[in-house]
Amino acid sequence: MFITLEGPDGSGKTTQFRRLAVWLGAQGLEVLMVREPGGTVLGESVRELLLQGRGGAMDARAELLLFCASRAQLVSERILPHLEAGGVVLCDRFADSTLAYQGYGRGLDLDLLRVMLNFATCDRWPDLTLYFDLEAEVALARRTAGGEVNRLDAESLDFHRRVRIGYLELVARDPRRWVVIDARPPADEVERKVRGVVAAHFEQQRVFDK
Ligand code: TYD
Repeated sequence: MFITLEGPDGSGKTTQFRRLAVWLGAQGLEVLMVREPGGTVLGESVRELLLQGRGGAMDARAELLLFCASRAQLVSERILPHLEAGGVVLCDRFADSTLAYQGYGRGLDLDLLRVMLNFATCDRWPDLTLYFDLEAEVALARRTAGGEVNRLDAESLDFHRRVRIGYLELVARDPRRWVVIDARPPADEVERKVRGVVAAHFEQQRVFDK
């Protein structure tokens, strides 16, 4: 089972990622937690390049290729082996972030991105993707209150609005894989919702496996 979490910074996605991992572990599952960009030695170096924003404006294509490079390494070094061993992989952001940020946000061609993402992921897309939905304005306010802001977080409100529209289009395209989680309620309430969705998904898989 390959589960990914998507949504804007400020949506509480990373808090829910940690809580979900603890809960799945308590159910006796072998859980691999990884984040993007990063998760490997190569990926963490790429992460620094991508998020710090040293050396002036980064070309959108260079940005795209760096995200893809980090992802290709993560997939082959950690994700595929763990899935093949029968474990659960929980990933904080994955290829859909590239469609949302570099595709809808930056305006790079979506068909081209899909070809590149299939290549970078060896065509292994998630089984379930939780999208933590929050209006761009609200996410921005939460980020500003929270402190640390990376190079992409610092993009304009319009950019983040396009990213949200993008995510909602991705959900509409593939509603069987995606579940939208309203990120506005308090964390405990969101956590209950997440557990319910994931439990239902596991249940459904068991039914399908029979
Ligand atoms: P991170 O600190 O991990 O933020 P978050 O808590 O929001 O997950 O930073 C990752 C940033 O990189 C985030 O702003 C989204 C962006 N990003 C892309 O633009 N494309 C991608 O493919 C990925 C994985 C992330």
